[in-house]
Amino acid sequence: MRPSLARVYRIKSFTLIFQHKPSFVAANHHQRTPIYFSSLSSSCPNLQIRKPQTPLFLRAASYSATLPDLKKWHQWATSLASSVGSTLVDLDNGPDSTLLLRELNWLIQDSFQDHHNSFIPQLPTTEFTRTRVDSQVVKLRVGLDELYRLWRQRVEERRPFQYIVGCEHWRDLVLSVEDGVLVPRPETELIVDLVSNVLLKESNRGLRDGLWADLGTGSGALAIAIGRLLGKHGRVIATDLSPVAVAVATFNVQRYALQDVVDVRQGSWFEPLKDLEGKLGGIISNPPYIPSNHISGLQAEVGRHEPRLALDGGFNGMDDLLHICNGAASFLKPAGFFAFETNGLEQCKFLVDYMDRNIKGSICNVSIVSDFAGIPRFVTGFRQ
Ligand SMILES: C[S@@+](CC[C@H](N)C(=O)[O-])C[C@H]1O[C@@H](n2cnc3c(N)ncnc32)[C@H](O)[C@@H]1O
Repeated sequence: MRPSLARVYRIKSFTLIFQHKPSFVAANHHQRTPIYFSSLSSSCPNLQIRKPQTPLFLRAASYSATLPDLKKWHQWATSLASSVGSTLVDLDNGPDSTLLLRELNWLIQDSFQDHHNSFIPQLPTTEFTRTRVDSQVVKLRVGLDELYRLWRQRVEERRPFQYIVGCEHWRDLVLSVEDGVLVPRPETELIVDLVSNVLLKESNRGLRDGLWADLGTGSGALAIAIGRLLGKHGRVIATDLSPVAVAVATFNVQRYALQDVVDVRQGSWFEPLKDLEGKLGGIISNPPYIPSNHISGLQAEVGRHEPRLALDGGFNGMDDLLHICNGAASFLKPAGFFAFETNGLEQCKFLVDYMDRNIKGSICNVSIVSDFAGIPRFVTGFRQ
């Protein structure tokens, strides 16, 4: 198994880290099971859910190409990646050639049916072996023309690699992602550990079988991970305003056979939870928190391609955090837990001060928790 590799997208005061582990990690697990769309639905009866994109590595290998043609593509793709050097790093902390070449290998792994067979054989030396190699075909999950198009999009248009292959590896999950849905970040993984620690405490036993909410679920990453932690009567309601996010989260919930545990609802923050005031055992959220005027300076992969709805937190990035914080005070039941992700120390302090001034009587044990990089990232606490 290859080690996981992280890409760091930096802009001014915040860091966005992307991670892609090769899909063969998933090959040993149940993730490579077939997916059926016919029953795709959410709890919103009027919502037209479009079919999400199937991750590349799960598609049927219904294309083929000859080895010489693939070799030509590989040479072209390698030289395009190599031509980048470190120019994008200097420009906006984008990927360098080394990272792009690594991604090229991952693209090969995801799109070739049998990536263990080297598709770039040594040049044949005799007429006989040359003829054999020239006539050899490789089964692909995507056509050769599409491979050219995808790699051009990655390098020249800066389309995030996760959108190219249609998935992201996050904790022990392989989540489908596509344009219109935020790629889940490694730092958000820690929220699952924070919840896990809370659930392990005997005094919090009631929360294990309780009702949880993941507000702004995106790909459904947090809702799915928390759903897997809960006891047999526990439930998660995952909300998002974006119809694309709702479709992708619903699809991911189905892939992990959690339809009875995770209920995906479309709507703004607490609006789809109207009937649950004072009843939630936990609320988790990674809302948009980037200040509006920072968006244009983001790394192109993020600013140009990821949905603004998932990034823009208003003037100082606090609009949604404050809204969620206020709602948590009324939607959590006594002793209910909350964990919110922020942009860093400044926003953590802002949120804690706000809680102190506005909802002090309703909450307790408020803490600021750092992420794996040591950056203060999360605000956690309990309902009184
Ligand atoms: C930073 S992304 C987080 C996505 C996911 N939870 C994750 O960690 O990968 C924020 C999410 O909030 C959603 N969102 C933005 N405004 C919203 C609103 N008013 N109500 C519900 N969700 C909203 C976005 O569509 C996006 O999916």
